[in-house]
Amino acid sequence: KMVPVVLCGGSGTRLWPRSRKSFPKPFLPLVGDSTLFESTLSRCADDTAFLPPIVVTGESHLEHVDKQLGGGDGAQIIVEPMARNTAAAIAMAACRVSPETVMLVCPSDHYIADVDGFESAACRAAELADDGWLVAFGIVPTAPETGYGYIKRGEQLGEDAFKVERFVEKPNRETAEAFLSDGKYSWNGGLFAFRADRFMEELEKHRPAIAEAARSAVAHGAQDGRCFHPHAHEFAKIQSESVDYAVMENTDRAAVVPASMGWSDIGSWTSLRDALMRDGHGNTVKGRAELVDCSNVYVETDGPRVSVIGLDDVVVVVDGNEVLITTAAGAQKVGKLEGAAKQ
Ligand code: GDD
Ligand code: MG
Repeated sequence: KMVPVVLCGGSGTRLWPRSRKSFPKPFLPLVGDSTLFESTLSRCADDTAFLPPIVVTGESHLEHVDKQLGGGDGAQIIVEPMARNTAAAIAMAACRVSPETVMLVCPSDHYIADVDGFESAACRAAELADDGWLVAFGIVPTAPETGYGYIKRGEQLGEDAFKVERFVEKPNRETAEAFLSDGKYSWNGGLFAFRADRFMEELEKHRPAIAEAARSAVAHGAQDGRCFHPHAHEFAKIQSESVDYAVMENTDRAAVVPASMGWSDIGSWTSLRDALMRDGHGNTVKGRAELVDCSNVYVETDGPRVSVIGLDDVVVVVDGNEVLITTAAGAQKVGKLEGAAKQ
């Protein structure tokens, strides 16, 4: 059985004004009635395949995590004293479980439409992880996105799996375009499966200082109910780096499982729009709104009635006393707004 390790760190500023510092993206019901965090947990709730989850999060998210995690039998929370990115977060969990445990690392802020597709990819990944591989989930790329990791398939490893020939985190636009036309690359879905001991060995090999500080932070940590607090002074010493740069780009033990599961990281208002059901004109409306002669328009309002005439590819979001209006292309820049940075 696998232990789901749910990472809850980011702030999701590009989904401002819905996503705020005090109420960030994973804890909002962006698609359907469940929040992205709740859906992540329920995808990993089948106790024939999964053990209770470990959620790794910061002090600032703890209240939301605690509430949305519910009474969950045996669930644990690791509370980071400050943000040190994903290599540290994963290492915290790896040092807390027994060495042979297979961990399924899940971002808490992604949307997966096809849960069966997720399950079969996760089961295949768990087999490979058991054999010692560090497994990534490959998503068929549809655009030269520069915010993702790219994985080049190598030699086939039995059914539905490949050795990773190359892992490139966040390439520039030109490189991303070359990868896309090459045909052998997939996007990294941000999920991983590996044995705790294998992960720590690779971290030790490529980032010994992170591994050492992480071990020490856990060894000197303190338990408080279902929360575990790594030692703050030791944790602070950990260099802030993502698992992609620290381990996945460097290890020669990486494998990739192609995952077709309706994946979206809901990185912006346009990708949320694209993940949701749209009407015949490509419009999506949440809340009170009237659209006339519009196409590919996304409107979400928690109060005022919104009326839009004659626009294409535009996003309108009303949240409390904040209003956002942007073109689809502009949606990438929302995080740079003064309002988004402040909240
Ligand atoms: N606990 C904890 N602590 N979680 C964290 C921290 C941290 O310091 N930093 C990030 N996370 C969580 C985020 O909440 C998110 O769920 C996940 O870890 C990934 O972090 P992001 O910051 O969202 O990474 P990214 O989107 O830039 O890139 C990653 O995901 C892409 C797919 O969405 C990489 O793995 C890419 O290679 C991948 O393509
Ligand atoms: Mg992300």
